[in-house]
Amino acid sequence: MAKKVIKRSWAEPFKIKVVEPIKMTTREHREKEIKIAGYNTFLLKSEDVYIDLLTDSGTNAMSDRQWAGMMVGDEAYAGSRNFYHLWDNVKKYYGMPYFVPTHQGRAAEHIISKILIKDGDFVPGNMYFTTTRLHQELAGATFVDVIIDEAHNPKSEHPFKGNIDLEKLKNLIEKVGAKKIPYVSVAGPVNMAGGQPFSMENLKEVHKLCSEHKIKLWFDATRATENAYFIKEREAGYKEKSIAEILKEICSYFEGIWVSAKKDLMVNIGGILATKNKKVFEKARNMVVVYEGLHTYGGLAGRDMEAMAIGLEEMVEYDNIRARIGQVEYFGKELDKYGVPYVRPIGGHAIFLDAKRFLSHLTQDQFPAQTLAAEIYIDSGVRGMERGIVSAGRDPKTGKERYPKLELVRLTFPRRVYTQAHIDVAVESIATVYQNRKNITGLKMIYEPEYLRFFQGRFEKL
Ligand code: F0G
Repeated sequence: MAKKVIKRSWAEPFKIKVVEPIKMTTREHREKEIKIAGYNTFLLKSEDVYIDLLTDSGTNAMSDRQWAGMMVGDEAYAGSRNFYHLWDNVKKYYGMPYFVPTHQGRAAEHIISKILIKDGDFVPGNMYFTTTRLHQELAGATFVDVIIDEAHNPKSEHPFKGNIDLEKLKNLIEKVGAKKIPYVSVAGPVNMAGGQPFSMENLKEVHKLCSEHKIKLWFDATRATENAYFIKEREAGYKEKSIAEILKEICSYFEGIWVSAKKDLMVNIGGILATKNKKVFEKARNMVVVYEGLHTYGGLAGRDMEAMAIGLEEMVEYDNIRARIGQVEYFGKELDKYGVPYVRPIGGHAIFLDAKRFLSHLTQDQFPAQTLAAEIYIDSGVRGMERGIVSAGRDPKTGKERYPKLELVRLTFPRRVYTQAHIDVAVESIATVYQNRKNITGLKMIYEPEYLRFFQGRFEKL
């Protein structure tokens, strides 16, 4: 008799030591709460949320080593021991000699945008991120999306949808001139594209082209270890390399990086600005005292910096990343059983439901993704976020809606927080909403703040 093929599974490389109870609520309660929140999941109280897939930002579970590190915080105003531990690890893992801590990612974006950008400049990037683009625009630049077309197509199975289109970049350089391009803004994996990575090959080509024109590359390394993982899995020649080695190679092509430590580093707060350029560093170190705090704490407590330093060591552990991305993959494969449309291939930090196909009877002006996020919350208390027309905001020059091609609901996985059973509950809820999708009506916006409107905008049922 032939032997039955036994599937061998992976499991998380950790066990649970501390638990936080979460509240289960009724549908009636959730209907009331989402209305009060103006149908914006950002405005819900977290105690009314059952499974929180809003973001992986600052919502991660720290390890016992990180918590132990919190106890050895050196809270000196100047020259904290933890700052030096963190700096050593920034050098070690990102290969950047100069470093300034900030309280979170957008603070580093603010400082670096002000330093590098002059009024009237152009900043090309592989799709925008909300806070990144806003700081570039506030510093006087026009953002130009140079990501490959496949990134805007949720059905495309391209393995590296985060890649930069060299023709688009060349055309921009020809059109505006290299002097008007202070740097190329590269992120990986690309959050708004569905957590899609770039390849090392593409990065090398972009670097070569930019070197010819003396344009520097800057890297949003917020989830860089996930990009390194995809390179290891998908790109020839990297299978035997460690995550740390791949990360170091990626960073070698950049003049500098900014990082929201609230993701890869698995801490609740923190940011990094690091560079090889001493002049840029000196400016950043001077600016940080204006906006954040002294350059040896940058708006953070000593204990936060210690947790970050240890997080840097844990983030490059292969088993950790495999389990993290494996969880997202599991979620996607379970959704497949119900035919739910989402951005392909499955990305690094989240599943992005394709709201255009999910609620195909709604027009983009009726905010399909905003609507869908609210409906999933009502069904089960699972919280996701809109990543479509609301997040894209208006063009700052014309004031017109930007109508992005992607109209998505992001369901994001905090690191080391939820179990497979939580995922099953979320999948079943989404499948239920999908079955009943024809009965769902859209929304209209009744309050629109000027900046990053998705955080505080309010809506009403049509
Ligand atoms: N860059 C990327 C790629 C991000 O995803 C974020 C934050 C930032 C920069 C800004 O960092 O929040 O520490 O100020 N992303 C969060 C998210 C908010 O939910 O994706 P921050």
